[in-house]
Amino acid sequence: MFWRNMLLFNSHVDVTVTFLLLLFLSLFGIGSSSAAPFYIDTYCPKNASYNSNVTFETNLKVLLATLVSNVSMSGFYYTFMGLGTTSVANGQFLCRGDASAATCQDCIATAAKEITRLCPNKTESIIWYDECTLYFTNHYFSRTGIEPRAMLSDDRNISASDLDSFNRTLFSLLNDLAEEAANSQSAKKFATGQSRFDGSSPQRTVYALAECAPTETSTQCEECLKNAISTLPSCCGGKQGARALLAHCDVRYELFLFYNTSGTSDPYKSKQLSWSERYKIIEGITQGISYLHEHSRLKVIHRDLKPSNVLLDSNMNPKISDFGMARIVAIDQYQGRTNRIVGTYGYMSPEYAMHGQFSEKSDVFSFGVIVLEIISAKRNSRSAFPDHDDLLSYAWEQWMDEAPLNIFDQSIKAEFCDHSEVVKCIQIGLLCVQEKPDDRPKMAQVISYLNSSITELPLPKKPINSRQSGIVQKIAVGESSSGSTPSINEMSVY
Ligand SMILES: *[C@@H]1O[C@H](CO)[C@@H](O)[C@H](O)[C@H]1NC(C)=O
Ligand SMILES: *[C@@H]1O[C@H](CO)[C@@H](O)[C@H](O)[C@H]1NC(C)=O
Ligand SMILES: *[C@@H]1O[C@H](CO)[C@@H](O)[C@H](O)[C@H]1NC(C)=O
Ligand SMILES: *[C@@H]1O[C@H](CO)[C@@H](O)[C@H](O)[C@H]1NC(C)=O
Ligand SMILES: *[C@@H]1O[C@H](CO)[C@@H](O)[C@H](O)[C@H]1NC(C)=O
Ligand SMILES: *[C@@H]1O[C@H](CO)[C@@H](O)[C@H](O)[C@H]1NC(C)=O
Ligand SMILES: *[C@@H]1O[C@H](CO)[C@@H](O)[C@H](O)[C@H]1NC(C)=O
Ligand SMILES: *[C@@H]1O[C@H](CO)[C@@H](O)[C@H](O)[C@H]1NC(C)=O
Repeated sequence: MFWRNMLLFNSHVDVTVTFLLLLFLSLFGIGSSSAAPFYIDTYCPKNASYNSNVTFETNLKVLLATLVSNVSMSGFYYTFMGLGTTSVANGQFLCRGDASAATCQDCIATAAKEITRLCPNKTESIIWYDECTLYFTNHYFSRTGIEPRAMLSDDRNISASDLDSFNRTLFSLLNDLAEEAANSQSAKKFATGQSRFDGSSPQRTVYALAECAPTETSTQCEECLKNAISTLPSCCGGKQGARALLAHCDVRYELFLFYNTSGTSDPYKSKQLSWSERYKIIEGITQGISYLHEHSRLKVIHRDLKPSNVLLDSNMNPKISDFGMARIVAIDQYQGRTNRIVGTYGYMSPEYAMHGQFSEKSDVFSFGVIVLEIISAKRNSRSAFPDHDDLLSYAWEQWMDEAPLNIFDQSIKAEFCDHSEVVKCIQIGLLCVQEKPDDRPKMAQVISYLNSSITELPLPKKPINSRQSGIVQKIAVGESSSGSTPSINEMSVY
């Protein structure tokens, strides 16, 4: 009971106490399994009751038991009982992306018991905990709608003088995370991140989380999250922390670190590819794109190059996949133009994102981003770089400081490898993400760069800054994500 009360204050200090308590308890071998889930709210609609409906009640009982017994499979499960009858019960649970299997199991077991106790004789209900959400319904909940939902906020206000900068930072972070969760290349649609704001408060870092049920499509997920975010100003404007919990997605922010970084984005254990494996992959991708551009009978512009479209076989040989967006252009055609901009944020060249102009140089841009991501094992999103705009500007800054190896993945930094090869790849990455298409090399040139000594490569200029260039705003109003389904063998180095 002590802990529940501590947690209800929901402040930095109290959470620290809770963690210390956890540590303390586990040192003594007490409560080594997770704490009781932190209850937030239920949705028990008055107008959705049944009275002595044996069929529905039986379906519901079996449904809840099935959900509980399937927790171990993953942090998410959807099923239904009584299909074809008028008493069908649909049910779904979603555990927070950073919850351990044990935490998830405990939370769902508790939720399944509590939901019918707190909402007796209902044909539909939702119960929200910090660690999980469980619902059942005899019809469906809207995939993106803001009803039903639960809101929770910290009582404390952001000081008036910091509010402007806090508010701008917060909503930009949340929108980034919505985008990132929606386009997640892992099985979970889950993103966390942090960002610093200007001001005088002692805590000036805002931490946030966005997640969707994995059954949402990218488009649904993003819409659901944007809707959840849109409920924050009226409920919780200017508060130090808040959550918006919908049926299929939720967002949360706090001025303290509330998620488990060892289990989350920081978009996640990398596969620990060695440098030589990574170099081999870079070479392979170079060959693959060059083939599309130069050696196939028709010039193919892929338009949606990103790590999830690169498949790796067991020998780390990459294959470019998903030609859903590809355009075949006449071999001597320099570039094309489209009004329908499809592609993935973070990998799209500025001229394509802004003006729909695609050419082999727009693929080269995406290739450059992929190369820098492979080297750093970080995603090119702002939330991965709290103090920089994105991976490109971070890489450029380190390059200017003559410390390019700072972007090298920490987990393999110590490994014995040819650092000049790493620096050469960073340089190639930077050359490929130049703002002007003409400043970017062709893939054939990249092949020769890979086979040249570093001194023979041209020097890069400042790369595009997606935030300053307005690409982000443009994408926010225009069309974005591709919604292609990730493949199991997809390359993931984050
Ligand atoms: C209950 O009432 C709300 C609001 O009037 C409505 O949107 C909802 O569909 C109703 N639910 C059921 C199960 O009738
Ligand atoms: C709920 O259903 C049970 C049997 O299914 C019935 O005995 C009970 O009266 C109902 N309660 C309410 C409040 O409707
Ligand atoms: C889920 O649980 C049910 C009932 O315990 C079981 O029969 C079913 O096989 C489980 N589903 C999967 C996919 O394992
Ligand atoms: C209750 O059961 C009857 C059949 O006995 C069914 O027609 C009805 O739709 C059920 N009600 C609910 C709320 O599921
Ligand atoms: C926060 O600000 C609101 C008005 O904007 C005020 O009503 C409330 O009392 C403030 N809360 C605290 C804890 O100071
Ligand atoms: C914060 O920004 C959001 C979205 O830009 C806006 O709707 C809201 O009114 C702002 N709130 C405050 C307190 O400035
Ligand atoms: C954080 O995540 C790691 C890896 O999933 C897990 O081992 C650890 O127990 C988690 N810590 C907490 C406090 O949940
Ligand atoms: C270039 O390629 C040749 C033959 O494939 C190889 O022997 C040589 O070491 C390469 N040079 C560099 C700098 O990679």
